[in-house]
Amino acid sequence: MNENSAALPADLSAPAAPWWRSAVFYQVYPRSFADSNGDGVGDLGGLREKLGYLELLGVDALWICPVMLSPMADGGYDVADPRDIDPLFGGLAAMDAVLAEAHDRGLRVTMDLVPNHTSDQHLWFQQALHAPPGSPERARYIFRDGRGPKGSEPPNNWPSIFGGPAWTRVIESDGLPGQWYLHIFAPEQPDLNWENPEVAADFEDTIRFWLARGVDGFRIDVAHGMAKPAGLPDMAHPEGQFDGDTLVVHDDGDPRFNDPGVHAIHRRLRTIMDQYPDTVAIGEVWVDDNVRFGEYVRPDELHLAFNFRLAETPFHPDRIRAAIDNSLCAVEAVGASPTWTLSNHDIEREVTRYGGGAAGQARARAMILLELALPGAVFVYNGAELGLPNVDDLPESALQDPTWERSGHTLRGRDGCRVPLPWEGQRPPFGFSTADPWLPMPGLWSALTVEKQLERLDSMLSLYRMAIELRGARPEFGGSGLEWYASPPGCLAFRRDGGLLCVLNATESPILLPAGEVLLTSAPIRSRKLPANSTAWLV
Ligand code: NOJ
Repeated sequence: MNENSAALPADLSAPAAPWWRSAVFYQVYPRSFADSNGDGVGDLGGLREKLGYLELLGVDALWICPVMLSPMADGGYDVADPRDIDPLFGGLAAMDAVLAEAHDRGLRVTMDLVPNHTSDQHLWFQQALHAPPGSPERARYIFRDGRGPKGSEPPNNWPSIFGGPAWTRVIESDGLPGQWYLHIFAPEQPDLNWENPEVAADFEDTIRFWLARGVDGFRIDVAHGMAKPAGLPDMAHPEGQFDGDTLVVHDDGDPRFNDPGVHAIHRRLRTIMDQYPDTVAIGEVWVDDNVRFGEYVRPDELHLAFNFRLAETPFHPDRIRAAIDNSLCAVEAVGASPTWTLSNHDIEREVTRYGGGAAGQARARAMILLELALPGAVFVYNGAELGLPNVDDLPESALQDPTWERSGHTLRGRDGCRVPLPWEGQRPPFGFSTADPWLPMPGLWSALTVEKQLERLDSMLSLYRMAIELRGARPEFGGSGLEWYASPPGCLAFRRDGGLLCVLNATESPILLPAGEVLLTSAPIRSRKLPANSTAWLV
């Protein structure tokens, strides 16, 4: 466990801060983590076998991406039964075993929940398809008549996140095209109607089901998406707008997300969570405006919300500092804890984002030290601790992300950051499985296996281990504030309340470190000179 949060109050009688405020979470993408039954797809048995590895890494908690019953149209984010585990991952017994063994090892376990939509194979949706317009079965989803002659146009102009319209027309019982249903994501992911009390009640059942089994909390998928605006108004710019050179398709004015009605849903979730002490709800909240972002983590809503600014920021000191300031500012007013993440299963891996090759590796090392020096909770995406790059040359025949099909084969989607982890040996599948992995693994990853990296003190994995250990053990990481220090151009320096000084050198040449004992650096130093693209911790 991370102890530094407990060191916060000077008053020893003051209650310790909750564990999640400064925890290091490890995100497991189960399909890609470890396969125990030789079908080429990772599963919960594989995760269980590797819990010792995660204990060694030193993380406090796991976030397991969806493992519930699913036809896997979107890697499990299309849930057919939220209170059952898919046989692909080993069924409920495998989940119970992971929970028990993780807890024995002092690891907390959080699960992904997907309240915005279900799978089209969910019993409710199947019932809705076979029921007439206006029926209670259809009222659990968002069905509407179409526009134009014979209702042949979608009810509004919303696009789906994965491409194409956000509406699909159904065939009614008379064999003719009829109503349309809303799916902000793939057609296999119909949006639920959160105005229907049955939907909220069912979500509550799901939450209680998992909490009663001992889960320590949830990551809430699309936590800014469940409520929809009255009348489902058209989007002003469905094709997106340019911000400089960047095409922004989804901003804060997007009517598909961030409707104020969503906060009542989070308040209800919180009252349930509060009945289970020490649990946490973490929202996926893609909201730019700091005030509106902060609303999600008010004291009676979510405990934490993902802030993606750092994950979207290039390796540029001014941009990094702005992202940090922004993220701190977004939660400060409501007294919540910040969260930090460099990558996840939806985002290009950081080594690639920072330029790839040796420079990408060096910068990813620098950034994880910077990130672990920050106050708040840190999320590490599986494989980041091995310095895995994105795999951008997957054969087209292997691509599985719905984006690939929905974009008419123009966007490859997110598979490049989901390639399975290399554990050991010289050749794919590197101990991940005994079969061909569900996505092919590059032969060059023989240099990046866990086995190889455990042997070397200068590996990315060793850096993660040392950094996480120091962060949990040293009082200098205490306190919730940080102060920026003057630093040479191209560099950043901040001091934590507890005394830790973190220095990032984002220039192309070495810089002289300030006075102090050097705790850890992301690259070797000589004569107190911190090399280009690296970070140092001093006390
Ligand atoms: C966000 C998840 O992170 C992503 O992987 C998924 O495709 C969408 N939500 C839809 O559930």
